[in-house]
Amino acid sequence: MKKYRVIQWATGVVGSAALRGIIRHPKLELVGVKVYSDDKEGLDAGDIVGMDKTGVQAIQDIDAILALDADCVIYCPMPWDVDEMCRLLESGKHLITPCPYWFPFIQDQEAAKLIEAACKKGNVNLHASGCNPGGIAERFPLTFTGWCNRIDRITMTEYGDCRAYSSEGVVRELMNLGKTPEEAANNPYKEFLTSFWNQPIDLIAEGLGSEIITYEAKHDFILANQPIETAVGIIEEGTIALNRNRHIGKTREGTEIIEEQIWFMDDIEQTRLQSKMDIPRSSGWRIKIDGDVNIIVDIDFPPELSQEEHVAQGMSTTGFHLVNAVPIVCEADNPGIKTFLDLPMITGCMGTHVTDR
Ligand SMILES: NC(=O)c1ccc[n+]([C@@H]2O[C@H](COP(=O)([O-])OP(=O)(O)OC[C@H]3O[C@@H](n4cnc5c(N)ncnc54)[C@H](OP(=O)(O)O)[C@@H]3O)[C@@H](O)[C@H]2O)c1
Repeated sequence: MKKYRVIQWATGVVGSAALRGIIRHPKLELVGVKVYSDDKEGLDAGDIVGMDKTGVQAIQDIDAILALDADCVIYCPMPWDVDEMCRLLESGKHLITPCPYWFPFIQDQEAAKLIEAACKKGNVNLHASGCNPGGIAERFPLTFTGWCNRIDRITMTEYGDCRAYSSEGVVRELMNLGKTPEEAANNPYKEFLTSFWNQPIDLIAEGLGSEIITYEAKHDFILANQPIETAVGIIEEGTIALNRNRHIGKTREGTEIIEEQIWFMDDIEQTRLQSKMDIPRSSGWRIKIDGDVNIIVDIDFPPELSQEEHVAQGMSTTGFHLVNAVPIVCEADNPGIKTFLDLPMITGCMGTHVTDR
């Protein structure tokens, strides 16, 4: 059986989950690990994620990674770099990433063109996946629209007590937690964040055979009333400790598509916040479809797990979704950006059996 040769690029929260996924996957072989941190350089990949030794040492040098003979790179840095992604693609390696290229053709046309050209040059594909976006935001709601006829509204909501999420780049820089309202208003990522969340909206519209004619973005927040201890350090009193982002697209036929994230730095009681928001639970997701069929799909973690375990498992779904896509992305015809609309079903993999049929 062919094993796909895979490189793990960056070993932060998501990259580490992906690395564990690659090492265990029966159809994949780990051939390289790119790290940024000096203290990870030279470490065996297994040691980075608390698994048995793999014989593959982590390296910082990009040219050495580019020179490796590999089918696919799981690309999980923060921040990411389009030129770097193009170099990897041009070197003939497929690329799978949780970074914002789920459906870039409308929101980020320049990057989409560069990536498409690099894919053609390298005769490979790029697929962006993840958990949200990359799952809850578009793949799963689109699946349920197959049960519906008239669709008035599709709402995806993410609830996240993020105190245990240790990515400063995502939690503080991107999502504004711990910033003052003024700092948040001037966040250099502000416009980018809107285009980021509009991508899954565009992808759903495309899946419905439509297009978005109006976009709207709303941002509400609540400040901390005391210092709050978290995995990214203290969230100071008077800084943002709850964020509610809503991005809303309306299609030509009037279907509303809403992407909502409520991320907070407290437990569900919110006693450390200056006011309280009505939140049904501390983690998980809700997909709601309104129309002639009305559906609510709640995805949650078992209550006996701790909040740290909820966050760890949420991040694992992001990494594992990337890894499980490798065989499908490597086999997809016609080089270019492959969205969920272009690929067959991506499943987990526990073995290599195939029924003769
Ligand atoms: N779609 C989704 O559902 C989803 C969910 C979560 C995150 N994400 C995305 O996934 C990516 C990784 O997130 P994360 O939570 O793993 O973040 P993280 O824990 O902050 O990890 C980022 C990693 O990037 C590497 N890095 C350090 N300095 C860097 C630099 N100057 N340039 C580029 N990379 C650098 C480091 O790798 P080493 O530790 O190996 O040195 C670091 O661990 C982010 O781009 C984030 O936006 C997507």
